[in-house]
Amino acid sequence: MAIDAPVARPANPRFSSGPCAKIPTFSLDKLADAPLGRSHRAAVGKAKLKAAIETTREVLGIPADYRIGIVPASDTGAVEMAMWSLLGARKAEMLAWESFGSGWVTDVVKQLKIDAEVKTAGYGEIVDLASVDFNNDVVFTWNGTTSGVRVPNGDWIPADRDGLTICDATSAAFAMDLPWDKLDVTTFSWQKVLGGEAAHGMLVLSPRAVERLESYTPAWPMPKIFRMTKGGKLIEGIFVGETINTPSMLAVEDYLVALDWAKSVGGLKGLIARADANTAAIAAFVDSHDWIEFLAADPAIRSNTSVCVKFTDPRITDGAVFAKAVAKRLENEGVALDVGAYRDAPAGLRIWCGGTVETSDIEALMPWLNWAFEAEIAAL
Ligand SMILES: Cc1ncc(COP(=O)(O)O)c(C=O)c1O
Repeated sequence: MAIDAPVARPANPRFSSGPCAKIPTFSLDKLADAPLGRSHRAAVGKAKLKAAIETTREVLGIPADYRIGIVPASDTGAVEMAMWSLLGARKAEMLAWESFGSGWVTDVVKQLKIDAEVKTAGYGEIVDLASVDFNNDVVFTWNGTTSGVRVPNGDWIPADRDGLTICDATSAAFAMDLPWDKLDVTTFSWQKVLGGEAAHGMLVLSPRAVERLESYTPAWPMPKIFRMTKGGKLIEGIFVGETINTPSMLAVEDYLVALDWAKSVGGLKGLIARADANTAAIAAFVDSHDWIEFLAADPAIRSNTSVCVKFTDPRITDGAVFAKAVAKRLENEGVALDVGAYRDAPAGLRIWCGGTVETSDIEALMPWLNWAFEAEIAAL
């Protein structure tokens, strides 16, 4: 039976999984200090880029001997730059359990054509992490944004390994604990957990990754945009803010503002707590309604950022049509924008729970979800 619409609304209906909601205190005038119209190679620009790198290190607890670079083409650029530059020296092991991980498999198998062991799992599940051979270079996604499945921790990665680990952590960084000693390459973009702007990627390299870069030259040509070495030596400038090509200083300023906000809510610990609280608010709703389930049945691998749910009511005949109608109804009411499941993922909703989302907004959304569900059931 259709029920009355709730009265309270989320103050911010933006629950997109990327670009994600901006920091709660955001306003455009916060970007006034951006050195617009100036060269990014002038002292003022370089200082901003260096601050972006070093504040990232501080908030994420990245070791002093790890390089951090700002690179073009967002997270995709950072991952592909790493794979094109590092892979091929030994066998690769590709782990994928949703769309983005599968994209990296395609890169390695169909484009780079590297000898690779491919391990995949369906949406909602994860591959057998205990079976991974770390003599290989292992490529994986810390949090599968399109299925809401993440690795439980880094315990499955040995500290002492021969191969490199390359980790796409774009929907994990700033929301989950990343064990830096287990990660040789880590990538993320600004547009995700901190609600920054698109286009810029972060590439974090361990000393072992740098060693590989300096000792191995891939058999294929390397476009300028991917080149991290010159004459067999790392181009150190990239990792102190001398970007390969021109960055947006407006986006840099926005990232700096987001990092400042992150520090104001308790840094990484505070951000994780915010994401956990958001996810817990959804879990409380899921637990008390028998028509909705998490796509990731196992809480140990359930994301605290890209939270994916599915409708399980037996009266639903076409799951995809139903889920889209619920998402549309929520959008039309202005209470939840961009919460439809990813285009390649099973039917359902995906509600972003990263730290820039306020728990009060998730809590306010839940009665609307109930309302939209009942309205669509009544309309069947
Ligand atoms: C896990 C993962 N990898 C890669 C990407 C691509 O990110 P970008 O568009 O920032 O390159 C996304 C975007 O949602 C993602 O979630």
